[in-house]
Amino acid sequence: MKMRDLLGLAAAVLATVSLLVSGVCGFDFYKLSLAWPPSACNTGRECIPYIPGMFTVHGLWPQYANDTAVPPYEKNPKCTTVTPTSPDQIPAVLQPIEEKLKENWPSFYPDKTTGARNDPAFWRHEWESHGMCSDYPDDTLGYFTETLNLAQNNNPLKVMGIQPDDKTLHEVKTISEAVKKNAKAYPQIVCNTLPGSTTLQLVEFRFCFKRAKPPSVLQDCPNKLAGTCKSETDEIRFPPAPPIS
Ligand SMILES: *[C@@H]1O[C@H](CO)[C@@H](O)[C@H](O)[C@H]1NC(C)=O
Repeated sequence: MKMRDLLGLAAAVLATVSLLVSGVCGFDFYKLSLAWPPSACNTGRECIPYIPGMFTVHGLWPQYANDTAVPPYEKNPKCTTVTPTSPDQIPAVLQPIEEKLKENWPSFYPDKTTGARNDPAFWRHEWESHGMCSDYPDDTLGYFTETLNLAQNNNPLKVMGIQPDDKTLHEVKTISEAVKKNAKAYPQIVCNTLPGSTTLQLVEFRFCFKRAKPPSVLQDCPNKLAGTCKSETDEIRFPPAPPIS
């Protein structure tokens, strides 16, 4: 065997071993999904009374290279070789960061059964759906802490080149290009549509990160659009938060 082949083989073995040691296989990058509450809450769906005018965390999702989400642990127990922390341990394990989570990772849709705000149910859902198959299967606190850090260090409002307002329509492309210029990576912009109209608005903003523990380096998102935006020439609203009554 030639030296070059040997080196290649050694690299492949090392990569495999490091994946096995990390306990997780197969996914390619992380998607940090940030919600814009004013757009999530002006379509008729009931929301909590106070709608923050800031991006809040929806989740941090391990994605395959083809931009599909890694299926939840329940459907995909082979996603990790370690035993993940049980969802039943939420919110106990998140107690040290609960205040920060309530502020930055709120659930703005009331609980279906109680009608009350239920943030821990949202956190639990994100843990079950995305956290257990991340690089943090047995470190729930680490997963949520690093997600909050990412959201704190990557504020879309600083790179989008626009601010919320009631009237202006923005071409999606203008926003994407501003983010590419300012943050050096394309985001994924998610739209919804105001009921009974064709008005599109920005409802989520997603940053993509190279897979690392912790993730920190941005990369282009493979798909620039999601939700009801179909073309980069679509024009969208970015509405402000309603006044506090
Ligand atoms: C995406 O990639 C994953 C992992 O390779 C594969 O399991 C899945 O079927 C793919 N999904 C699509 C829609 O191609």
